[in-house]
Amino acid sequence: MKYGYFDDENREYVITQPDTPLPWINYLGCQAYFGIISNTAGGYSFYRDARLRRVTRYRYNNAPYDFGGRYIYLRDDDSSEFWSPSWQPTRQVLERYTCRHGMGYTVIGSRYHGIEAQTNYFVPLDQDLEIWRVTLTNRRSARASLSIFSSIEFCLWDAQDDATNFQRNFSIGEVEIEDGVIYHKTEYRERRNHFAYFACSRSLAGFDTQREAFLGPCRGWDRPVAVERGQLSNSVAHGWAPMGAHHVKVALEPGETQQIIFLLGYHENPQAQKFDPPDSQTVNKQTVKPVIARYLGLAEVDAAFEKLRQYWDGLLGICQVATPDVHTNRMVNIWNAYQCMATFNMSRSASFYESGIGRGLGFRDSNQDLLGFVHMVPARARERILDLAATQLATGGAYHQYQPLTKRGNNDVGGNFNDDPHWLIIGVAAYLKETGDWSILDEPVPYDNAPGSERPLYEHLQRSFQYTLDRLGPHGLPLIGRADWNDCLNLNCFSDTPGQSFQTTTNKDGKIAESVFIAALFVLAGREIADIARHKGRKEEAARYLAEVAKMEDAIRKHGWDGEWFLRAYDDFGRKVGSKECAEGKIFIETQGFSVLAGIGLDDGRASAAMESVAKHLATPHGIILQQPAYSKYYLELGEISSYPPGYKENAGIFCHNNPWVMIADTRLGNGDRAHDYYARINPSAREPISEVHRCEPYVYAQMIAGRDAPTYGEAKNSWLTGTAAWNYYAITQWILGIHPTYDGLEIRPVVPKGWRGLKATRIFRGVTYHINVTRQGEGNRVTLRVNGVPQEGAVVPAPAVGVREVAVEATLT
Ligand code: BGC
Ligand code: NOJ
Repeated sequence: MKYGYFDDENREYVITQPDTPLPWINYLGCQAYFGIISNTAGGYSFYRDARLRRVTRYRYNNAPYDFGGRYIYLRDDDSSEFWSPSWQPTRQVLERYTCRHGMGYTVIGSRYHGIEAQTNYFVPLDQDLEIWRVTLTNRRSARASLSIFSSIEFCLWDAQDDATNFQRNFSIGEVEIEDGVIYHKTEYRERRNHFAYFACSRSLAGFDTQREAFLGPCRGWDRPVAVERGQLSNSVAHGWAPMGAHHVKVALEPGETQQIIFLLGYHENPQAQKFDPPDSQTVNKQTVKPVIARYLGLAEVDAAFEKLRQYWDGLLGICQVATPDVHTNRMVNIWNAYQCMATFNMSRSASFYESGIGRGLGFRDSNQDLLGFVHMVPARARERILDLAATQLATGGAYHQYQPLTKRGNNDVGGNFNDDPHWLIIGVAAYLKETGDWSILDEPVPYDNAPGSERPLYEHLQRSFQYTLDRLGPHGLPLIGRADWNDCLNLNCFSDTPGQSFQTTTNKDGKIAESVFIAALFVLAGREIADIARHKGRKEEAARYLAEVAKMEDAIRKHGWDGEWFLRAYDDFGRKVGSKECAEGKIFIETQGFSVLAGIGLDDGRASAAMESVAKHLATPHGIILQQPAYSKYYLELGEISSYPPGYKENAGIFCHNNPWVMIADTRLGNGDRAHDYYARINPSAREPISEVHRCEPYVYAQMIAGRDAPTYGEAKNSWLTGTAAWNYYAITQWILGIHPTYDGLEIRPVVPKGWRGLKATRIFRGVTYHINVTRQGEGNRVTLRVNGVPQEGAVVPAPAVGVREVAVEATLT
């Protein structure tokens, strides 16, 4: 069953039914001011940091999930009837409803008793505000006298505190109202120099800023007393719950259309110029007023929307493909790239599954996310890399996450995840291959942000690599620390206390438990840093890295192989994890996919045996399961992984993040059919027809699909902010379609299904547009290239002469 359809031409997903199984959301904003918006206008906004600069309020674990929102009410002043054009919160049955989620904007349109309302929500580029452009049309045969009410609830900035510290918060709320603009200035009197504002393009029939005055006692958002009455009370909030509501009266002749703009924004003043006059407590509005005036103008709003469209045209235009598979095209050209930008902006902080109060930006996550967005925003990727590296510790280790506002590592989820440092190498390598900007390696970057500790970025990579060599276990494999990629494989945790964090509890000294996954990651990162060293002319150093890599491969062959697949780990008792000897958890996906991806076992049959084992034991129609058999009980020595009921999350869920590792592994073995088949199984667009099973948005990946051990097999959870976005993008574009940036040029090495006659692609790489045409002439993966009509040795298209902007590449597969 579907709840809408893809409009690929406009790059939109169009939801035609408001009661989707879960809120189907979109993101507004792409630089500093952000919002989440659901298909019924639920969601919230924030400036840079979802926790510390929350502009509007969201209620956690509410029913429905997506309350508060950006709610508009319409009222027919002749009949006194009122409704929500976004369906929520009044839920009147609408004559027509569509929600178009597009690139950085959402348009919710509906019709009720002949009144059409369409609201376009977006954040203009380079501005810290969101626009709601409401278009009202009267399709009745008679004049309509309408009232339109806007409403938002201000959050008292720190979203965590806002949701908990009521004894203080109910007494601190403050607002100002000037020229119909509502200014939210809670805590501005003391240490804040920022405030929020909510403005409207029309003169007002009234406003409210105190929630209770608007809603009325004992009421919720579905029947605000002020809307029912048709008149706001000009309330001025002192304490309690400051909100913003405007009331505009609109008279529409039959067929007439009118537009009204609401503006919600964030603004900062210099510390010394907070007040106007300076000795008052009144917010200085001198610099914000011109911004407000500008974006309340229709022409300016239209121009801003057009600029936003062009921005996305530019980003998405960097890689466009035309393959025989519509789901591949749609995800690569539109939605997967778009999701990669969301993971860049949000990391794992704010979605309907990430509360925006819990997690900062993950070190591992943000480095991996680079794989999906570096080609679109290389300059911002550079900045991100330097920020991440500045949180690295002098040991080479890393805080597991950092706060975007302060850019400091935070200890909430601790450190000692022994895989973390290697992702920096992998992220930097991806950046270098995409951009050729070797200067980044010379950038001075501190350790743990400590002034005076600055060393070239390159040294950070060296320390990342060394980190593992300093922490080898009894089998010569890397010690796991708190966990590796699988945050839930907590082999040193041994927690028996309810509520204790699996991520920060350590009851063992960590000298025994080893990770075969980190071993494989070390091999990959080692090859990358060796390549980088070689390009820097450090041949001996490169050779040293490769010698360590060879030793690690040897350790994997001796102690990390179980006969038909790669082992997963050794626990604190030195016992195998992920072996046929185990009662449960005999085979894991991570080491199969990642080892082969890293090139391990390609020459000795282990790689293909591992892939056969995946196909036999882990692959399902809904995707590849993380491990089998699922853990049926809690294992003290394994930790969080066994805390989940079978089939969910890391306990035998289909973890979409690591499915692409297997896809890439299969391409390394030349299995294009199988790689693409795995790709299609979790491709959200391909799963659209089973939306009632999948339940999450059909246009973006979710972190997890419940595995076959779960009663809700096939149900997705935790959409949007997941490494799944980057890894799938990377797997399909660089390995399956085979458009692969290298240090020496753009490599074209597709490993696609045998049935494909070919594919076309346009890829802008280092300022040059490559028009790629792949034609299949045989069933294999051998590539023959012609560049601008001239035969070219190998599969790498070298950079053209300076000044050449377009290159035609003909690739033949035989
Ligand atoms: C989740 C993991 C996540 C970890 C760290 C766990 O509860 O299952 O997917 O990585 O928390 O936040
Ligand atoms: C989600 C985390 O964000 C990611 O870093 C981790 O690798 C996976 N969970 C698996 O545990």
